[in-house]
Amino acid sequence: MPKIDRKMVKQAAMILRSGGLVAMPTETVYGLAADATNDKAVAAVFEAKGRPQFNPLIVHVTDVTMAESLAEFTSLAKTLAAAFWPGPLTLVLPRRKDCALSLLASAGLDTIALRSPAHPIAHALLKAADCPLAAPSANPSGMISPTTAEHVAKGLFNKVDLILDGGPSVVGVESTIVKIEQDNAFLLRSGGLEREKIEGISGRPLQALSTDKNKPLAPGMMASHYAPASSLRLQANAPSENEAYLAFGPAPETTTHGLNLSGTSDLREAAANLFAHLHALDATCQKHGLDGIAAAPIPNRGLGEAINDRLRRAAAVR
Ligand code: TXA
Ligand code: MG
Repeated sequence: MPKIDRKMVKQAAMILRSGGLVAMPTETVYGLAADATNDKAVAAVFEAKGRPQFNPLIVHVTDVTMAESLAEFTSLAKTLAAAFWPGPLTLVLPRRKDCALSLLASAGLDTIALRSPAHPIAHALLKAADCPLAAPSANPSGMISPTTAEHVAKGLFNKVDLILDGGPSVVGVESTIVKIEQDNAFLLRSGGLEREKIEGISGRPLQALSTDKNKPLAPGMMASHYAPASSLRLQANAPSENEAYLAFGPAPETTTHGLNLSGTSDLREAAANLFAHLHALDATCQKHGLDGIAAAPIPNRGLGEAINDRLRRAAAVR
């Protein structure tokens, strides 16, 4: 059992509360943690990993009580959490209406991936920070997941404010991800918790998500990225008369229904605002009967690459 350095944990919690990044040990792999309610901190996670896309992140919680304040639990979800938490099981559940989590953490989706890690240091950190922690594996994008503090230091040495050393991860592969829709459980990623154990508790086979592109998925299933209901026009230097405008940098003054991702052209701020602004402008379009959203050009460097990836997908999916 790794020893807990209380002073280090307290310092790490303070860093997280002020928007910083902490690498934390978990029983599966090391995670790069940020306050999941802080858009800018979550954006900094994507930046540190150099992710060219915004994949939804796993949000870590102390226990079921914290999880239930964030997501809608069906009785199947409660049963699985009771059996396997803390542990290497991630549950994808609908966000609650009053969910305080950053929309960027779930990449604009109306579901959220939640897990309560079994590592004593991760648990102590969650307790001390007293907030949910978004944490992908603590490696640069495209590299293998870290199972020691040394791996993290090698990959992300100057991109993280503090690394908590909790010894080697005992499970060593990422958590198993299961999506819950009412009484149905779908396996999204196999991982550290065996399928057989989950099926033994739920009493029925885990379903597979259809990968057949010709076979339409059930509504709401596998919405792998957020798309607004309104149409989206990219690379627009200004909105037309009947469009809402998603600005970046100095905005044209003629804009009536507009929101700015970052008035100072700060890509981290823009990433932090992206999904919230798209949701808000989508509502504006519906409310005022506008033709759609026009989006300003975003420079394709740093987090701009991920922002453009998401905007392209949002514009394409119909
Ligand atoms: O063991 C783990 O799960 C580690 C440790 C640090 O907890 N974390 C981890 O996170 O592997 P990450 O970000 O590398 O994996 C997150 C994956 C996404 O790629 C996506 O497949 C899935 O979780 N995911 C997250 N939110 C989702 C959602 N709302 N719907 C569907 N899939 C989601
Ligand atoms: Mg990963």
